[in-house]
Amino acid sequence: MAILLGRPGAAGGLGDSGYNARPGGADSGDFPGGDLAKLVPPMAFVYLDHNATTPLDPRVREAMLPWLGESFGNPSSLHRRGRAARGAVDEARARVARLVGGRPEEIVFAASGTEANNAVVATAGRRAGGRGRLVLSAMEHPSIRAAAERLEAAGMEVARVPPGPDGVVPAARFAAELTPDTRLACLMLANNEVGTLQPVAEVARACRELGVPLLADAVQAAGKVPVDAAALGADYLVLGAHKLHGPLGAAALWVRPGAALEPFLTGGGQERRLRAGTENVPALVGFGEAARLAAEELAERAARLATLRDRLEAAVRERIPDARCHSTGAPRLPQTSHLAFPGVEGEALMLRLDAAGYAVSTGSACSSGRPEPSRTLLAMGIAPEEALASIRVSLGAPTTAAEVEGFVEALEREVGALRRVMARPA
Ligand SMILES: Cc1ncc(COP(=O)(O)O)c(C=O)c1O
Repeated sequence: MAILLGRPGAAGGLGDSGYNARPGGADSGDFPGGDLAKLVPPMAFVYLDHNATTPLDPRVREAMLPWLGESFGNPSSLHRRGRAARGAVDEARARVARLVGGRPEEIVFAASGTEANNAVVATAGRRAGGRGRLVLSAMEHPSIRAAAERLEAAGMEVARVPPGPDGVVPAARFAAELTPDTRLACLMLANNEVGTLQPVAEVARACRELGVPLLADAVQAAGKVPVDAAALGADYLVLGAHKLHGPLGAAALWVRPGAALEPFLTGGGQERRLRAGTENVPALVGFGEAARLAAEELAERAARLATLRDRLEAAVRERIPDARCHSTGAPRLPQTSHLAFPGVEGEALMLRLDAAGYAVSTGSACSSGRPEPSRTLLAMGIAPEEALASIRVSLGAPTTAAEVEGFVEALEREVGALRRVMARPA
């Protein structure tokens, strides 16, 4: 299926910043991907789905290139190629640690946020031997939710703490679920759907009183809001490179010294024998560079994106007066907007926006061929019809004001078109 959705004349597009630049230009016949190139949307396609994944920062790509070419090597090799690769991985570890105020030896690299989250939940499960309790928020990412369901099936008790209508889990409500036999608590730092920041530091204090380890999934938060491992007080933090303009295939687990972690891949001695397997050197180098840039540019990026997001939401409210913007009163990520348009099918809207040249995502999950309302939105007390009428718009470092303006115009047009279709007599 070819997805060639040019939007000629998109001002201030991604190309300005060098993001998404490709050899030979947007629709080049000599793009080295051959037929695969036809699957890649041209640069004019406006990407507003950065919570799903982000384009590689061109500076990150530059840093990675030697490690995909002449600098190849296995960090476990003792010759100079190996030593150079080891040095690059060490430097990446130090940079990632710095992003969360940690020390390099507290970082365990993994291939994805899912893998790192799974590793912590599995550690709790193995140590509990099918007994005891897990406490998690009802808005955790599936990589924690599904891992907890496995332990539940094996006999553990699982308490799920719902967020309030604002998309924030009340700390006192979470703390009230903790018991002395709780083996692990999980509270994400920032929610991937509505973008709300969760009271991790407060919950960490309650966990410490009972000796309960706390996993804070920081995949969406890292690089977008300041994350300080010591101040948060959690025992584990998880972050992923591809959400902060780094590459796919690299993630990190920060582990407080003394916190339990069982090996999650066995074999060689990599990652202090916790995660065996030859390191993905180019991806880790990219992760390190993305983390360094995110730390350096965080304040400027966050302020700029919060301004764009607020402008976006104000324009949506003005042009589509019955639109709802979720969680606007809560502490939240600077670049996430969750919008609902009563009576409009979110999935149909997402597809029309795609055809018009804009990438967003829906507030639903597709299982068994039918869109189902997101569990997070339902847990917030949002009615299923409204959850199915929502989209998530997530901005990123390359997003421009012109793109946001163009998007609001397209949104108004497509919401209007869908409503006219629905108003037609059957
Ligand atoms: C909050 C959160 N946690 C974990 C993950 C999983 O990360 P990965 O895609 O690297 O497996 C995601 C990805 O969307 C996420 O948003």
